[in-house]
Amino acid sequence: MNDIQIRSEYGLDEVQARIEKHIDTLSNFTATPGNGTTRLTYSKEDLQARNYIKEKMKEIGLQVREDGFGNIFGKLEGTLKDAPSVLIGSHFDSVPNGGSYDGPAGVVAGLEVASLFAKNQLKPKYPLEIIALIEEEGSRFGGGLMGSRGIVGMLSEDDFKSLKDKDGVTTEEAMVKIGLDPSLPKKRDSKTMKAFLELHIEQGPILEEKGIPIGIVESIVSLTQLEVTVKGQAGHAGTTPMDRRADALVAAAKMIAQLPELAEEEGNGTVITTGQLNVFPNGSNVIPDKVVFSVDIRSGKEENVLNVIEKVKELVDFYSGNGIQTSVEQLLYVQPKMMNKDILSLLKKKTSEFNVPYCSINSGAGHDAMVFSDYTDVGMLFIPSKNGLSHCPEEWSDSRHLAMAVQIFYEAAKKLTEAE
Ligand code: GLV
Ligand code: MN
Ligand code: MN
Repeated sequence: MNDIQIRSEYGLDEVQARIEKHIDTLSNFTATPGNGTTRLTYSKEDLQARNYIKEKMKEIGLQVREDGFGNIFGKLEGTLKDAPSVLIGSHFDSVPNGGSYDGPAGVVAGLEVASLFAKNQLKPKYPLEIIALIEEEGSRFGGGLMGSRGIVGMLSEDDFKSLKDKDGVTTEEAMVKIGLDPSLPKKRDSKTMKAFLELHIEQGPILEEKGIPIGIVESIVSLTQLEVTVKGQAGHAGTTPMDRRADALVAAAKMIAQLPELAEEEGNGTVITTGQLNVFPNGSNVIPDKVVFSVDIRSGKEENVLNVIEKVKELVDFYSGNGIQTSVEQLLYVQPKMMNKDILSLLKKKTSEFNVPYCSINSGAGHDAMVFSDYTDVGMLFIPSKNGLSHCPEEWSDSRHLAMAVQIFYEAAKKLTEAE
């Protein structure tokens, strides 16, 4: 995969070296050094990463601003008055103990496309905007895709304000703590967006197994995130007889153990995951009186996701009674999304012109691109993930592949911005 011939006028080696430096630097902004990237939204590490991204945007000559969610925008003005922008970017938050590439790869790709515009002194008609989005993972405030949902108005200002992290800190309190201004404009008119391009690591094994460096994304799965709350009665672990207990954790464990069957019964590649479990009061000698756990359901077909949501609700309901109360809240629901046909053709054309092998691919992961797809023309590229791993410290992608993707996006962005 590494000996593909690339045209040299882009200074690919330079681009690749800078990409490595960006990725390396950003990966140091973690709350868990030595154990992967943990960069929660509005944390100290978020501030460090945002300062770095803003500084790099300024070095390239972009006009930098943040919105009332803390999303970052670096704009190269176009020559047309009030013209919509071509956006390129991704998110810069991470899951707990995640990798260095999920999110930052796309932000860095955007920075490098803008660098090539600057280096070649291009004058776009339509503005080019590099964007770095907050809270795509939902690791701090739940739900996920928050930066993009906020921009398009899918997340209302009131809903945003009411969100709290696990310690009860609100979004606005957390923003203010790192010096962000929640009163800045939030929603953006879709008329200000001409297109959105996102580069992302594949996060699965397909491209690596096929030996193909570029995946052109056709569609993104339907996904939902549920939050199940189970309430029982706290009590002494030593003195409460087994038949007098309403143990919230035992009830939750029985539910969670049955979830995989629900996805397997549904078939069609439907997947279900409980990745977050909070036990209260979390004392080793206290019977748990409350458990809150996540249920993430995905499938290429919306119908499968909807069916499994109903089955989860029935299952959770079944465990209500005998001192146990249960409830289910839907934190996120997104239909499957298709990428824009014209952008797909453009990306295929540009990739072919570089003689870079590519294949079409569907995304099992959620991305900000799926949110933007209802508001503007969207295209995504994937690059291979080593051993198909992601959301873990071992996550790794080849900076050469990232540099190839930058060249493809550069050519696509030149066309979309009508740059000369
Ligand atoms: C983001 O990584 C997601 O697919 O949940
Ligand atoms: Mn992710
Ligand atoms: Mn991601």
